Amino acid sequence: MPKCECGLSYVSGIDEDEKQHETWHDEYLHGAILPDLYTLNPICSVAGYPLVMVDAAVPREVRFRLSKAAYVAQRATPDYPPGYDGTISEADERLFIARDDDRAMGIILTALDECFWSLTWTHGGTVQLIDRTPHRGPLQKIGRVWIAKEYRRRGIASLMVKAVVEILGYDVSDIGWELPLTEDGAALLQKIVPSKWWGRGDNFALRDTLDAPRRT
Ligand SMILES: CC(C)(COP(=O)(O)OP(=O)(O)OC[C@H]1O[C@@H](n2cnc3c(N)ncnc32)[C@H](O)[C@@H]1OP(=O)(O)O)[C@@H](O)C(=O)NCCC(=O)NCCS
Ligand SMILES: [Zn+2]
Repeated sequence: MPKCECGLSYVSGIDEDEKQHETWHDEYLHGAILPDLYTLNPICSVAGYPLVMVDAAVPREVRFRLSKAAYVAQRATPDYPPGYDGTISEADERLFIARDDDRAMGIILTALDECFWSLTWTHGGTVQLIDRTPHRGPLQKIGRVWIAKEYRRRGIASLMVKAVVEILGYDVSDIGWELPLTEDGAALLQKIVPSKWWGRGDNFALRDTLDAPRRT
């Protein structure tokens, strides 16, 4: 079955499939429509778009509905879990959403985690391990960054990371990043943190990160 860049495999010509694809593709281009976004006070604005923080202060049922934004973002990396379902544990899960009207056009997920690898970039753009012994947390990590396709390459992800890191009281070089990175994610991270950074993941995720070919 052919797969569209929006992440959906579907059969063209079948009404039900075409309808589902229309929705998925629209969400991929512009973000999910989430009217609850209007009910949250923005913490700041990024590139003119209000940024809201979905944390423990937001009612559970609202968090649950807004978690749709994380599920839409997950379509870019279907092999990995969405990372947010509205539940809040001692890991202090937060979902940051940049909105354009009622559209969640940018998201960042954060949570506390333990055990981070000290990593850096080689001149060739691959990832290198600085220290074989991981740093024991807890540290806040960025579990996912996603920007709707029509909004990419306008500096929005960079501005969102900067705002989120500040709100969490971190420096951009102190926050952790979930491994492995996607190609887009590696390009973004290398631009934002060109030197040493913290990666969070098990040995397999670390190996995939270190083995990832240089971006062409
Ligand atoms: C990764 C992602 C969030 C970047 O969002 P963005 O808003 O386009 O990023 P920015 O505009 O802030 O990019 C800043 C810089 O990062 C680098 N960069 C970001 N995305 C890049 C890409 N796809 N290819 C090459 N460089 C890229 C560039 O240096 C860019 O600066 P430039 O546009 O002036 O060249 C977006 O591509 C995305 O959502 N991808 C799908 C989900 C994903 O893979 N997330 C990462 C998980 S680890
Ligand atoms: Zn599509």
